[in-house]
Amino acid sequence: MTIAPGASVLVAYEDAALGWYDAELKDQVIAYCREILSAEVESVEVGLPANTPSVPLEEKLREKRFDWIIFLARLGDQGRFDEDRDGPRKLMVYTRRLAHLASTFGTVPQSAMIALKKAVDGLINQATTIKITCPYGTKLIGKPNPKVSQTDESKDGQTRDGASKDVTVVRFPSAVSTPVSAKTFSGQVVLRQGLTSTGSKVYEPPNLPIASEVVAHVTCGRIERFDGAEEDAQAVRAHYERVADLFGIEPMFVDSWHQGLHPGTDTSPMPEEDLCLWGETLFTSPQYLHFHTCGEYPPGEICWMVESPTVALDGRNLYENGRIQVEAFEVFKPCLDQHPELRALF
Ligand SMILES: [Fe+2]
Repeated sequence: MTIAPGASVLVAYEDAALGWYDAELKDQVIAYCREILSAEVESVEVGLPANTPSVPLEEKLREKRFDWIIFLARLGDQGRFDEDRDGPRKLMVYTRRLAHLASTFGTVPQSAMIALKKAVDGLINQATTIKITCPYGTKLIGKPNPKVSQTDESKDGQTRDGASKDVTVVRFPSAVSTPVSAKTFSGQVVLRQGLTSTGSKVYEPPNLPIASEVVAHVTCGRIERFDGAEEDAQAVRAHYERVADLFGIEPMFVDSWHQGLHPGTDTSPMPEEDLCLWGETLFTSPQYLHFHTCGEYPPGEICWMVESPTVALDGRNLYENGRIQVEAFEVFKPCLDQHPELRALF
């Protein structure tokens, strides 16, 4: 991506009081666009994501035609910006704090992360059988699905119509593999912390913490049942019904899964403090693989986070206990040779 000198840029930043994006990040991004990129910059404060458009943002967009919108805000992840192909190009930023931008999460070049993602996606697509396990009892087996896997990329790498989302929204950093359809996957997924929202639509509460493990039994991408301590299993069932009722969707579907790619992900958010912040931060870490469920469409409404996953492709581990096995596959060698910044990550 390039922002040309003289380009008009709108920085849509989330109110720092909400605790997700810090004010210093916004100040630095605006200064960088003005002073280094010589762009014309305006800014607008936005609030929480909602199921209706942001009024301050829409007003700004009516006032003027911008070349770029830089989202330092969760609402940039909402599907409607992907669909706005005639509008400004968009950059959705996941480095929510200046410290994230300064860390390896923000400084490994985007081209290096895209090369890593392509290598991982390529290996997954070539596999005949994929087995996902975790130390807590997850065991799911299926096949890659080229139709979903070859498309690119929203936050969840999802496309609603098969067109490339990179055309309208650039995600920074590029830090998750392309989703694999769950249609052929069967087995069980052990849920440990609870349920989080995919962020596709807004509902309250967005999360369901659980006190003990609940096991989701899956057959060919359909959820058969939830087992576990009765209070938690029942709370999970009720959460699915409530979310499905709210939007008139079918609850018992697993749409797809994907894997975090960036070892530089901030691991400080604790699930017991804020399940939402934890899920939306850790999903880019190789320590987590997550599923999109609830709703027969991508990305669904409810996420499952699988901790320390092992992903075996035809018996060879691509991920082992949440680590990408870059030494185990030849395809990573040219990738790491061309992008030495990646070597420091592994
Ligand atoms: Fe996702």
